[in-house]
Amino acid sequence: MTKSPIGGNRSGRKLGQKVKKGKLKASSRRWLERHINDPYVQRAQLEGYRARAAFKLLEIDEKHKILAGARRIIDLGAAPGSWSQIAAKVTNSTDADPRVAAIDFLEMDPIPGVRFLQMDFLHPEAPDRLKEAIGGTPDLVISDMAAPTTGHRQTDHLRTMHLCEVAAHFAVDVLADGGHFLAKTFQGGTERELLNMLKQNFRQVIHVKPASSRAESVEMFLLAKGFKGRQGREPTEPAEDAATE
Ligand SMILES: C[S@@+](CC[C@H](N)C(=O)[O-])C[C@H]1O[C@@H](n2cnc3c(N)ncnc32)[C@H](O)[C@@H]1O
Repeated sequence: MTKSPIGGNRSGRKLGQKVKKGKLKASSRRWLERHINDPYVQRAQLEGYRARAAFKLLEIDEKHKILAGARRIIDLGAAPGSWSQIAAKVTNSTDADPRVAAIDFLEMDPIPGVRFLQMDFLHPEAPDRLKEAIGGTPDLVISDMAAPTTGHRQTDHLRTMHLCEVAAHFAVDVLADGGHFLAKTFQGGTERELLNMLKQNFRQVIHVKPASSRAESVEMFLLAKGFKGRQGREPTEPAEDAATE
């Protein structure tokens, strides 16, 4: 079970540390204080994960069982790489027999068993490059992509929602029957059209908010389980809002 590190101090580092007032701007100091006092950050360091985001995927999996049985995984917006670390582990991926393909426009230090493409997922060639890199049919597509922040909240939301939508269409294009799709979205941000499309293509579509996703953040995850396949799609009723768990 993924233990909540809230209030924990398993790295041996004290929580509640302050950063001295000095050259840093107040907002940067607040960010740094929050970061070094975040128990998930400390636990990620202790357990060898590159980012606290690892616990979001692990917590979602604990409840919704999307990793077990995944043989090939595509990780969108992968850097610095904690989801790819988990993906490589659960698929027993190796450099000789890679089962994970990952993409990010930022650099990412290599992870054994992960074929990494440093490019923009929105580039027209990205889908084909990913299909080529995975070398088989993936049964899980995960996307933690978030658009770089501009400071204008609505613009940032729209850009991240666009990434979620493109990722969803990509998942429908590549997934094996029965496969799953998980993507970052925002509270109230998922367009009805996107929900309709996902409900037509997957057996279950829900919104999830893992404990490790900061409560003050509007971040949510959209989980679509049980891909119905590209053959013989059943027509469905127009979607209601996806349930939130
Ligand atoms: C929250 S981070 C991902 C953290 C990652 N899941 C982990 O566990 O380490 C979001 C990533 O999405 C990437 N990203 C955003 N837009 C992208 C795009 N259009 N193409 C590729 N990567 C993108 C960012 O560069 C960033 O590294």
